[in-house]
Amino acid sequence: MEKHRKVIFITGASSGIGRETALTLAKKGYRVFAGIRKKIDKTELENLNSNITGVYVDITSESSVDKAFWFVYKNTEKIDVLINNAGIAVAGPIECLTVQQLKEQFDVNTFGAINVMQKFLPLLDNAKIINISSMAATGIFPFVAPYCASKSALDILFNSFGIENKSNIKVISVRPAVIKTPIWNKSVKRARNNFEEYNETAKEKYTKELLYLEKNALKNNDSGIDVKKVVETILKIINSKNPKPVYTVGAQAFFAEIISKMPKCFINYIIKNRIGNI
Ligand SMILES: NC(=O)c1ccc[n+]([C@@H]2O[C@H](COP(=O)([O-])OP(=O)(O)OC[C@H]3O[C@@H](n4cnc5c(N)ncnc54)[C@H](OP(=O)(O)O)[C@@H]3O)[C@@H](O)[C@H]2O)c1
Repeated sequence: MEKHRKVIFITGASSGIGRETALTLAKKGYRVFAGIRKKIDKTELENLNSNITGVYVDITSESSVDKAFWFVYKNTEKIDVLINNAGIAVAGPIECLTVQQLKEQFDVNTFGAINVMQKFLPLLDNAKIINISSMAATGIFPFVAPYCASKSALDILFNSFGIENKSNIKVISVRPAVIKTPIWNKSVKRARNNFEEYNETAKEKYTKELLYLEKNALKNNDSGIDVKKVVETILKIINSKNPKPVYTVGAQAFFAEIISKMPKCFINYIIKNRIGNI
């Protein structure tokens, strides 16, 4: 009889952390259901490794998540590990962003992951849910507050679910530092589009900060940590009997955790001064 192969469902497998995780787990012999949104990504992943099955899913759409669930349900009896990885980054000054732009951030990073967890529950008995959160969940970074808030809310909601659930599901949050993936270029594109919607006064007020933010994001695109570091942590969690509730990846993420425990007035003072000097 064939030994039970661990079954993984990962969202956002078309690029970055998700793609590398899907390919690494598949190479190790896991059965991977990889969430993608485009046919070209499904074909590419499936051609790279026969342990991968692409699953169309837009996590912000209940009907899409529903269809994805029934597809996976017909192909496996259980999922051992659900990895909520799909995400986007919305940045900008809070006074300028529309509520719609803020909602878009939460729709993907927070409610999307909840959508998937709730729909896939029948397959998740005794499973692990690994959420790719971020060091941003510490909430200490201005101008990327929508992203910080979405990850913080994700962690809070899922931490509670980890305690409440009656299906013996363990919840683990992975909080990486800056990782070299396409998310940075995408966030610059999104921030530029959002900027076009600001009124002229707001544009003038925040030009300096937004240029700095953009320069930083483009730099992160090249200087971030290798995506393999996140995959190593995911593997460690999958293989651990008793994983911790939170894992940081990278020194920056470790220090962000420590700094975030300091008095708020102190953290804000330092950060505001730093912004004043850009
Ligand atoms: N890179 C970093 O520095 C960093 C640090 C900490 C945490 N993270 C987190 O890591 C996760 C992966 O990000 P990444 O850096 O690997 O970026 P990425 O390469 O841009 O990957 C994001 C993935 O999410 C998918 N996605 C976006 N919206 C979706 C939706 N509505 N439904 C389904 N899939 C959707 C994208 O699919 P499409 O290709 O179809 O758009 C893509 O596959 C995110 O949650 C991010 O917040 C990243």
